[in-house]
Amino acid sequence: MLEKEQPIAGFLSDYAHKKPIRAHMPGHKGKPVPGFEMLSAVTPFDITEIEGADSLFEADGILRTAEEQTAALYGSGAVCYSAGGSTLCIQAMLAQMKAERRTVIAARTVHRAFLNACVLLGLEVRYVFPDNGSLLSGSYSPAKFAAALQDAVQKGERPCVYVTSPDYLGGMQDIAALSAVCKQYGAPLLVDNAHGAHLAFLPENRHPIALGADYCCDSAHKMLPALTGGAWLHCKNAAMKPLMKQHMQLFGSTSPSYLILQSLEASTYWLKNGGTEAVRHIAAEIASLRAKLPQYHFLGDEPFHLSIAADGIRLAGTLRQNGVECEYADKTCLVLLLSPMTEPDELARLGEILAAIDPGTPAAAPPLPEPSTPAMPLREAALAPCEMLPLSAAEGRICGPVQVPCPPAVPIVMSGERITGDCLRLLEFYGLKQICCVKQG
Ligand SMILES: Cc1ncc(COP(=O)(O)O)c(C=O)c1O
Repeated sequence: MLEKEQPIAGFLSDYAHKKPIRAHMPGHKGKPVPGFEMLSAVTPFDITEIEGADSLFEADGILRTAEEQTAALYGSGAVCYSAGGSTLCIQAMLAQMKAERRTVIAARTVHRAFLNACVLLGLEVRYVFPDNGSLLSGSYSPAKFAAALQDAVQKGERPCVYVTSPDYLGGMQDIAALSAVCKQYGAPLLVDNAHGAHLAFLPENRHPIALGADYCCDSAHKMLPALTGGAWLHCKNAAMKPLMKQHMQLFGSTSPSYLILQSLEASTYWLKNGGTEAVRHIAAEIASLRAKLPQYHFLGDEPFHLSIAADGIRLAGTLRQNGVECEYADKTCLVLLLSPMTEPDELARLGEILAAIDPGTPAAAPPLPEPSTPAMPLREAALAPCEMLPLSAAEGRICGPVQVPCPPAVPIVMSGERITGDCLRLLEFYGLKQICCVKQG
């Protein structure tokens, strides 16, 4: 039964049960290791790609079956498992765009993983700036993308569009409208859905693939009960799977963690066996918690992000004293990330604690820097000899490799861009003291 419904779990448990002499990697041989006794329960299942265990990037056995189960659950054409987070999925999606010789048009609110992938692949990016919002969360009208697509097509380019939705604060883009615009221009739509693996199971399916995206990544480890590093790459078109696997092996480790892969399979199994109801239930509970806290100004409309406009640093400190650790805090906001694993009494307790606290006044972040033409190609700047300079000495210089606090890992100034006064004010606001600049001369 286990073999059929959870083929990876079935194989791992059989193998551990047989207790063979493990004359293969990894070196712990499935034994308890002095020094990491706390991991003893999982070492018997931590194997590598041995006979019968399949091979992640050429999956044709238990891994392929597990991937197909996840794809069927989501209604995606194909799903590829990743033990390298959404980061690996983003690299693969963009590698396909490179192979298709496409220009990338991206919403500016991107995670560093996107920028790093563009550097590695030698892709240049044209950014669309938000109509309103901040560095971390903005709303983008599809009309702006239509204008950028029109411009690219007129120049004889083959564009694609890349957006992050939900963003770090839970802001959501109108993926259905964006998909309609992309279709008009024959442009694939790629969505960084790292924060949205659960969206398919809300009362209204809000998963990017259901709304018309061509590719998206889900960090199952962020919102579902998967181990850190577990993610899914979804393709609308099943025929793209072999190419995506090929791209993933360009960047991924040849030793993917079976513990992570099994946790992806387990998340799928969990969703099919009551998890989807749990997603809907906790989403409704979080909505009613929001309604009970009228003194709070909540940001974003994604249900699992409880993002609050507040003096986040102070609020995070008060919450910590009360036994709550948040996902992210700065002077403008605080992000609490919840999931179906958040228990009813934890949610109730969180509500009581929040009700008793004054959220404080959020600081106003300086405006986003004006859009500018890069002074140097992205890849060249990111790999150029560079020097760390205090912010006071960096105005007018070209940004080298990006420095960005993680979380939220949203770059303020991109490699190759000229560092303006506006950039410096924003860098200072987010607590950066120095910046890596391309060496001159
Ligand atoms: C919006 C966004 N995209 C991509 C990533 C990278 O995801 P992963 O950590 O699964 O590689 C993150 C990580 O925090 C993220 O917040």
